[in-house]
Amino acid sequence: MTAQNLVTVDDDSDARPGGEVLLRATDVTKHYPLRTQALSRHRRVLRAVDGVSLEVRRGETLGIVGESGCGKSTLGRCLVRLTELTGGRVEFDGQDITTLSARRLRPVRPGMQLVFQDPQASLNPRRRAGDIVAEPLLVHRYGDAAAVRRRVAELFDVVGLAAAHLDRYPHEFSGGQRQRIGIARALATSPKLIVADEPVSALDVSIQAQVLNLFADLQEEFALTYVFIAHDLGVVRHVSDRIAVMYLGEIVELAETEALYDAPAHPYTQALLSAAPDIDDGTPAADVPRRERIVLTGEVPNPVDKPTGCAFRTRCPYARERCALERPGLTRTPSGRHTACHYPLID
Ligand SMILES: Nc1ncnc2c1ncn2[C@@H]1O[C@H](COP(=O)(O)OP(=O)(O)OP(=O)(O)O)[C@@H](O)[C@H]1O
Ligand SMILES: [Mg+2]
Repeated sequence: MTAQNLVTVDDDSDARPGGEVLLRATDVTKHYPLRTQALSRHRRVLRAVDGVSLEVRRGETLGIVGESGCGKSTLGRCLVRLTELTGGRVEFDGQDITTLSARRLRPVRPGMQLVFQDPQASLNPRRRAGDIVAEPLLVHRYGDAAAVRRRVAELFDVVGLAAAHLDRYPHEFSGGQRQRIGIARALATSPKLIVADEPVSALDVSIQAQVLNLFADLQEEFALTYVFIAHDLGVVRHVSDRIAVMYLGEIVELAETEALYDAPAHPYTQALLSAAPDIDDGTPAADVPRRERIVLTGEVPNPVDKPTGCAFRTRCPYARERCALERPGLTRTPSGRHTACHYPLID
């Protein structure tokens, strides 16, 4: 790297992975009380998110992956305060937003937006696409009707939709186009952070790549920070700088994307990699010969009755006695990897 390059990297380090933290979650928990147990002395809870700490830096994409029901969506909603936390703290853009009242949260909201998995379900079928995109502008008093109209047309253009289609209803668009409407709506208030909850899972594989490319282009153009949720390691690999792997409400591994794919530290990550097809060519993402394949057996335990110690131990081929006794926290191994495992595959 030349001296000139070094200066460039230094100059805008805040906007790059490794730069300033935009979002910080500290020991976030979200527990749902079980209704049937309401009168019992020992109220049982479903531990949807169970002690998650992470940081997202300005301009980076943090991928979050894990099997269905592991708490990804719940965590995503906690991060943007669309749900109340049971415990822990969320700081966004230097401000603790954990307990802000609705009124005080209002000026913070435009800065963080969510894109949902199923555009069919998340777009009001009775509203025209232009009105759907205009809604957050009206809520946050963007300007007069003409200014809103101009902004909506601009957003349509930015996400690759034709201005001629402003008056169409969601069902008149294809799946990929509907997701573009959802993205335009999320962009309307010029957010800093977008939490995208499985934004391409409902789309045909051929359309997925187009929408992923759009996310990448928008990130570049508007210096966006993403939390990108997927159940499939094949999808997040192409968009994420770092990846957090979740299991039963906990992060079991957090690493730079390539490091995680090259050499997973947690047995669960290894198992997910063994199973993940590559989005490009359908070949297994596991491309390192020395890596043994792990095929997961058994069911994911119920988050109401989590195993003692390590939550993954009941399905882990390497589990030993200690794993049932002590819960491993997410810690840094000597080689700088973050994993919640007593016996990481690399150290
Ligand atoms: N409002 C709720 N009330 C009670 N339990 C809930 C609620 N929302 C989620 N859960 C439970 O919390 C756990 C985590 O759910 P969540 O939807 O966050 O998982 P997920 O990883 O997003 O799954 P998927 O991949 O299917 O979208 C699940 O056991 C789910 O049943
Ligand atoms: Mg989900």
